[in-house]
Amino acid sequence: MTRKILVTSALPYANGSIHLGHLVEYIQTDIWVRYQKLLGNECYYMCADDTHGTPVMLSAKRRNLAPEELIAQMHAEHSADFAAFNIGFDNYYSTNSPENKALSELFYRQARAKGLIYEQDISQAYCEKCRMFLPDRFIKGVCPQCGAAEQYGDSCEVCSATYSPLDLLDAHCTECGGAPVQKNSVHYFFKLSAMTAELLAWVQAGHIHTEIYNKLQEWFKQGLHDWDISRDAPYFGFQIPGTDHKYFYVWLDAPVGYIATTQNFCAQNGKNFEDIWIKPGFEIHHFIGKDILYFHTLFWPAMLLAAGFRTPDQVHIHGFLTVNGEKMSKSRGTFIQARRYINAGLNPEYLRYYYASKLGASLNDIDLNIADFAYKVNSDIVNKLVNIGSRLGSIVHKKLHGRLTAPDAAGQAVLAEINAAQSGIGQAYEELEYHKAAREIMRLADAANKYINDSAPWHVVKTDPERAAQICTAGLNCLKTLTAYIKPILPLTAAGVEKFLNCGELNFQNAADILTHCQINVYEHLAQRVDEKEISAKLLG
Ligand code: MSP
Ligand code: ZN
Repeated sequence: MTRKILVTSALPYANGSIHLGHLVEYIQTDIWVRYQKLLGNECYYMCADDTHGTPVMLSAKRRNLAPEELIAQMHAEHSADFAAFNIGFDNYYSTNSPENKALSELFYRQARAKGLIYEQDISQAYCEKCRMFLPDRFIKGVCPQCGAAEQYGDSCEVCSATYSPLDLLDAHCTECGGAPVQKNSVHYFFKLSAMTAELLAWVQAGHIHTEIYNKLQEWFKQGLHDWDISRDAPYFGFQIPGTDHKYFYVWLDAPVGYIATTQNFCAQNGKNFEDIWIKPGFEIHHFIGKDILYFHTLFWPAMLLAAGFRTPDQVHIHGFLTVNGEKMSKSRGTFIQARRYINAGLNPEYLRYYYASKLGASLNDIDLNIADFAYKVNSDIVNKLVNIGSRLGSIVHKKLHGRLTAPDAAGQAVLAEINAAQSGIGQAYEELEYHKAAREIMRLADAANKYINDSAPWHVVKTDPERAAQICTAGLNCLKTLTAYIKPILPLTAAGVEKFLNCGELNFQNAADILTHCQINVYEHLAQRVDEKEISAKLLG
C-alpha cells in the first residue's frame, strides 16, 4: 500500500546564509523524501524562509532595506543554494505570507477560545534611544561571574554562566551602545502548563526517539512553563488581532509556516491542505536539529492540539555539524557557507554522499573531516561505483557496437546478491540509518568490481567478444541496480547513469529488472577524484 507523507525541514532564518551545518538537515531530509518517492509513496516536502523577528528587522535596517526587501533577497539566495545541492522541495515558501497570517491568527483564536491565553505585565530591558525592548542577544556587558567583557545578555561564552540581562555589569544596547533601562509592558502567554497531561500522552506515544524522550522527561519533571508569545513594537511580524502594537513572537508563526506552505502548495496543485493537516490519512514528519527540540516537541504539539490540527507522527532530530572535530566557528574559518562550497567547484553530490555515509538516526554530532571526505569520495564514488561504468562503457562502446546481450552465470550470481540486499538497504533509508545503506551499497560495488576483475572482459574481448559482452552486460546491470539504490543520495550521478545505460528512470520498483539485448550510450564522465589539500585550501581559512 502506498503511504501518504508530508515532510518538513526546519525553516531557515532569513537573516543569514545557508551554511554546511544547515545542509546536514536539508540533505538528510531530502534523501528520505527521495527514497519515499522512489518507493512510489505520495510524499511532499515543504519548507520556507523563517522571516520574522528582531534580528531580521535590525539586519534590514543596517543594510538600509525594508524587511520585505531583505527577505525577498534572502529567499532568492536560499532557493539558489538549495537548488545547487539538489534539495527537492515541493514548495519553498515564506512565513511572511497571507496564508501564514490567517493561520497564525486562527491558532491564536482557537487557543484563546479554549482559555489558554492570558495577559501579564512583565518587566524587560528597554533601550530609550532605539525605542525598543531588547532581546537578550541585543544586550552586551561584563559577565557578573568571571568579569569577561562583551558578553551577551543571557550567557557568558567564556565561563558558560547563564544569567538575566539585569545581572550584566555595564550593560549596553548592541545597536546604539546606550544603557538599557527596565520597562513594563503587557505580554500574552500561552498556558503550556495547562496542557501537561495531553503533551505527556503525545510524548509517550512513540513520536520521538527514546534518547530525546528521556530529555523531555526532565522538562516534565521540572514542570512546563507558560510561553510568552507576544512582542512589543517595533517588531517585524504579524500583529496580534485585537491588540495595539503587539506582535506574535516569531516562534509562534514559524511552525505555522509548515501548514501555510502546505496550503499554498495545495492551492496550486488542486489539493486541499485540510486533507493533510486536519483529516487523517497523511503521515506528518518533521526534521529538525537538536537545538530547536523544545519548540517542536512541546510548544508546537500544544499549539496543534489546541487548534484541532493533527500532531506530527514523527519528529526526527539530528545532531550538529563540526568541522575537523571542532564546533564551526567564524574565527577559525570553519563556518563554511553553501555558496563557498559551490564556488570552489566542488561537486554537491560529494557532500551529499559524505553526510549520508556519516548519518544515523541518533542525536550524535557529525564531523566534516576534510581528509576523510576526500578519501570517501575517491574510494567509494570514484573507485567503486562510477569506475564500473567507465571501465565497461569504453569496451562496450569501442568493441561491442554499444550493445548489451545477457549476463553470464557468474554475473547472474552477483546480480542475485545485489537484488537480495534491496530490502535491507530500503530499511536503512526508512530508519535514517543512511551510513548503513551507503556501506552496504559499497560492499556490493566491491563484489561487482571483483567479478569484473576476475572476468577481465578487456582480455576476453580480444578472443571472445560474445563472452565479453555477457560480462559487460552483467557488470553494467550491477551498476544499474546499485545506482537505483544510491539514487536518493546521488540524484545527479544517477541521472548520468540512466542516460548512459539508456534505461529510463530508475526507482525501487524497477531496480532489479535486467537490461538485455539493448543499445547503451557513450559513457560520459560522472565523477572526478578530489585532493584533500586542494579542498582544504578552497573551503577553509
Ligand atoms: N528558524 C528556526 C527554525 C524554525 S522551524 C519552524 C531555525 N533556523 S536556523 O536557520 O537557525 O536553523 C535551521 C535548521 O538548521 C535547524 O533545524 C538547525 O538545527 C539546523 N542547523 C543549524 N546549524 C546547524 C549545524 N551547525 N549543524 C546541524 N544542523 C544545524 O532554527
Ligand atoms: Zn539602543
